[in-house]
Amino acid sequence: MKQITSRVFSVKEVMDGVFMLWLKTPLIAAKAKPGQFVMLQCGKDNLLRRPLSIHNINENKTNLAVLFAVIGKGTKWLSQRKPGESIDILGPLGNGYNLSPESREILLVGGGIGIAPLPFLAKIASENKCSTTMLAGVKSTACADIENNLPHNTNLIYTSENGLIGVKGLVTILIPNYFEKADQVFACGPAPMYRSMAKMPQLKDKPVQVSLETRMGCGFGACYGCTIKTKQGLKQVCKDGPVFEMNDVLWDELADL
Ligand code: FES
Repeated sequence: MKQITSRVFSVKEVMDGVFMLWLKTPLIAAKAKPGQFVMLQCGKDNLLRRPLSIHNINENKTNLAVLFAVIGKGTKWLSQRKPGESIDILGPLGNGYNLSPESREILLVGGGIGIAPLPFLAKIASENKCSTTMLAGVKSTACADIENNLPHNTNLIYTSENGLIGVKGLVTILIPNYFEKADQVFACGPAPMYRSMAKMPQLKDKPVQVSLETRMGCGFGACYGCTIKTKQGLKQVCKDGPVFEMNDVLWDELADL
């Protein structure tokens, strides 16, 4: 884990209110693994750093991308950065997804902005000769910028709330059609999506890893602000996660954000 100053490479609104920020930060990019996150200092007025999943890494492993929705002062500040400006960054943090070297097919499930860490995982899977199906639940539109960050052989299937793209409905409705061939399932999305997945008989015997989003203070295990209840006792999302085995989490005890 390093706390350093990164440089903004580019920032672009890729969907309504959703931004992709590329940062030049070679020390962190070179060490990052799919499912890990970084903490970004969002200006001098925002004391708390903002945790964001690592969305992708460039070929040279010098730059990393994060994807975020503007939901407050900190993310608004981030969305207004210009190339060359500096942002303090801490990372890479947490335990990411654990892709088995034996897996030949994986299923990725992303709900909304939860799609953020999955392209990086798809890229590593592709390097491991593992094929990927990705189910992406969006509001109403596809996102070319996210698609461009996926390996070309990714089987990408959309659902949308209004049916304008892909199948109408929540992303979880597609899982029964695609779970069977997957050696592992990896998900990122809101707690209600996970609660629904945890009840699916199709996933009962599948290894499913989920990335949790909670409020975070420090991001590295010092404040206990991100503690959750699991079957193995209390865990800190920032340090023990953010990725957990789905069946380990006590979903009824987890608050929605
Ligand atoms: Fe401080 Fe997890 S955010 S312990």
